[in-house]
Amino acid sequence: MPIIACNNICKSFPMGKERVDILKGISLSVEAGEFVAIIGESGSGKSTFLNVLSGIMPTDKGEMVIAGEHLEVMDENQLALFRRQYLGFIFQSYNLLTQLSALENVELPLIFAGVPKQKRREQAKRMLEKVGLADRMDHLPSELSGGQQQRVAIARALVNNPQVILADEPTGNLDSKTSIEILELLKQLNSEEGTTFVVVTHSHVVYDYADRLIEMKDGLLVTEGKTKE
Ligand SMILES: Nc1ncnc2c1ncn2[C@@H]1O[C@H](COP(=O)(O)OP(=O)(O)O)[C@@H](O)[C@H]1O
Ligand SMILES: [Mg+2]
Repeated sequence: MPIIACNNICKSFPMGKERVDILKGISLSVEAGEFVAIIGESGSGKSTFLNVLSGIMPTDKGEMVIAGEHLEVMDENQLALFRRQYLGFIFQSYNLLTQLSALENVELPLIFAGVPKQKRREQAKRMLEKVGLADRMDHLPSELSGGQQQRVAIARALVNNPQVILADEPTGNLDSKTSIEILELLKQLNSEEGTTFVVVTHSHVVYDYADRLIEMKDGLLVTEGKTKE
């Protein structure tokens, strides 16, 4: 059974008196452990698709099944709980809390999950070591480079061991050398932890790291290629 299965997802937005169709019937199946990249021009609907896929934005039509659970029938509370348990998010702008240290930022999802203090501290430390920030744990985001901040965000996304990571332009604010380092880290975590990744980007650099490359075009997904058979 695929970990993600969406069928005929449609989403439109009001524009003046009309509605504009952004997602026109998207179907996608992702196997557990896959690293899928979705590319497409700016404005093609990539972020909209990720928001709908994660249940942050309601779909107009279509079915969305993640880890066997139907998201399209859940209410707000069920969705929030589901996201907390199954999904991790990585954003272009890192979305770290500025007053908290790297370690405290990574601990956040574990606080929400009710993990006791000692245990969550250990888990967060282990995760920060994994992303190469063992010596930066007590730094505030403002004391870290863009690449390091994204590493903290990646550690936070992975710390409670979600089955699926959704990343929206994770290297969008980074220079090309740092982008490659971040993609290599994501790929490494994908292999080591078996976490499924869906990474949205307008950068073709991701081609080297993805098992499957999908293009968003005219509100639909078109498979562009596979780097791994
Ligand atoms: N909440 C919204 N309300 C109205 N239009 C939106 C909204 N979100 C996105 N759009 C429009 O949908 C289109 C796709 O946007 P988006 O999903 O952000 O594209 P991408 O992430 O590929 O750049 C754009 O034309 C954008 O203006
Ligand atoms: Mg976007």
